[in-house]
Amino acid sequence: MTGVALSRWTMSYFVAALISLIVAECLMVAGFGYPAAPIEAPETLVLVHIVTIGWLSLLMCGALFQFVPVLIARPLYNNTLPLPTLGCLLAGLFALLLSFLQIAGIVPSHPACFVAAAALLAAGFGLTLFNLGRTLWAARPLPLPARFVVVALLSLGATVVLGIIFTLVLGGIATVPHLLNVTALGLPIHVIAGLGGWLTFSAIGVSYRLLAMFMLAPELEGPTTRAAFYCGTGALGVAILGGFAAVCASGNVIMIVSAGGILGLAGIACYGRDVLHLYRARKRRVIELNSRMAGVALGNLVATLVVSIGLLIAGVFGKHVGVVVFLIAFGWLTNLGLAKLYKIVAFLTWLECYGPVLGKTPTPRVQDLVVENRANKWFVLFTVAVWCAAASLMLGAPLPFRLSAGVMLLATVGIIKQLLRTRRLANVQPTLRLPKGVRPPHLLYCWVQPT
Ligand code: HEM
Repeated sequence: MTGVALSRWTMSYFVAALISLIVAECLMVAGFGYPAAPIEAPETLVLVHIVTIGWLSLLMCGALFQFVPVLIARPLYNNTLPLPTLGCLLAGLFALLLSFLQIAGIVPSHPACFVAAAALLAAGFGLTLFNLGRTLWAARPLPLPARFVVVALLSLGATVVLGIIFTLVLGGIATVPHLLNVTALGLPIHVIAGLGGWLTFSAIGVSYRLLAMFMLAPELEGPTTRAAFYCGTGALGVAILGGFAAVCASGNVIMIVSAGGILGLAGIACYGRDVLHLYRARKRRVIELNSRMAGVALGNLVATLVVSIGLLIAGVFGKHVGVVVFLIAFGWLTNLGLAKLYKIVAFLTWLECYGPVLGKTPTPRVQDLVVENRANKWFVLFTVAVWCAAASLMLGAPLPFRLSAGVMLLATVGIIKQLLRTRRLANVQPTLRLPKGVRPPHLLYCWVQPT
């Protein structure tokens, strides 16, 4: 990361994201939304968007503001914009949740809320795309991991445009027949563009770089990485653009999306092969907790694909689609997100505190900021709880699902406690903790040296 500045507001994104994760888990424990309510119920939409926008998208935006500059060795276009962006995203999410609660009849109806949700989320995600887009544009030709991020950002655009149309139609503001048609048929495209294009593709792009960086393995740009990129991009192109075309021509959206799925499988197989190669070629002998758990997350992704294929063959995919979405959101994306967060928080805190005095005074190593033995049990507990929750969903057992969600909540609190200890330098030996010239880190932002 030499020469690349710290992203000032990334920690605020992480804090907001973790609070959203806790809120979502509390709702699951309380039996709010799916499986107690139908999958298309507004209560479920509340839960789904606290997870997808509040937790996963904020986590990803925070990570990208820090790591896109690392991928292309250039500074972020604007290091101040992420704060108003976060404000818009949080306010927009709040308005969107209120809109869903209105549909459920839990709060009084107010159409302005739907408009506010659409406008604020368009502004928040628009600013994200503008800031990251300008940063990437200045660095052409882009290295392969950065190209994954470009495709992910285009998918985010598609997700948000569809989400806005749905919101305005559900709020009764948009009544044009074509938009009603998009809302009736476009949900699979919104879900694939969001979970597959935006969240999974950016996680894959960033993880290529992070796994190599944290395991001291050589960077990959070979034929399998290119194949992963082209197959994945092709899959998203078929599903999103083909899906749009099918909606407009009143064609079969599910057929098109399934065709994209086959290309997507090939892309994920290439990514899996690359990750195995990175583990084998690593110079760091002991695999750190974050890399071990990233491996578990990838295993969960593969298991999710196997389960999905099994459900498709048995002709019951539609009945169990909630299990598949749950496994992608928690088994794959949340497991990977928490694992990488554990290392990223330590790494950024170390850079912020000890980077400026490196070589001038004795400083701790990055690994001295964490105690992996303490964190390990919480990660294992989280993973096992996710498996139990998914099995409960599959068996249609709501009570065991809520109990498993309770264990996920407990494990998340355990992991957050470790993150707080890292951020507060509580694991560092007192003699090394705050040498002269080192400021204690703030919880919500990184102190960035003026350039
Ligand atoms: C950023 C990533 C996003 C992801 C991964 C995502 C995911 C999803 C999923 C999985 C559903 C289906 C839920 C269910 O049927 O229970 C859904 C529905 C919906 N989403 Fe999103 N979403 C995202 C962003 C947005 C945004 C930004 C908006 C609004 C501006 C939005 C508005 C909606 C609406 C209104 C529906 C309900 C559509 C209907 O029932 O016809 N979403 N989303």
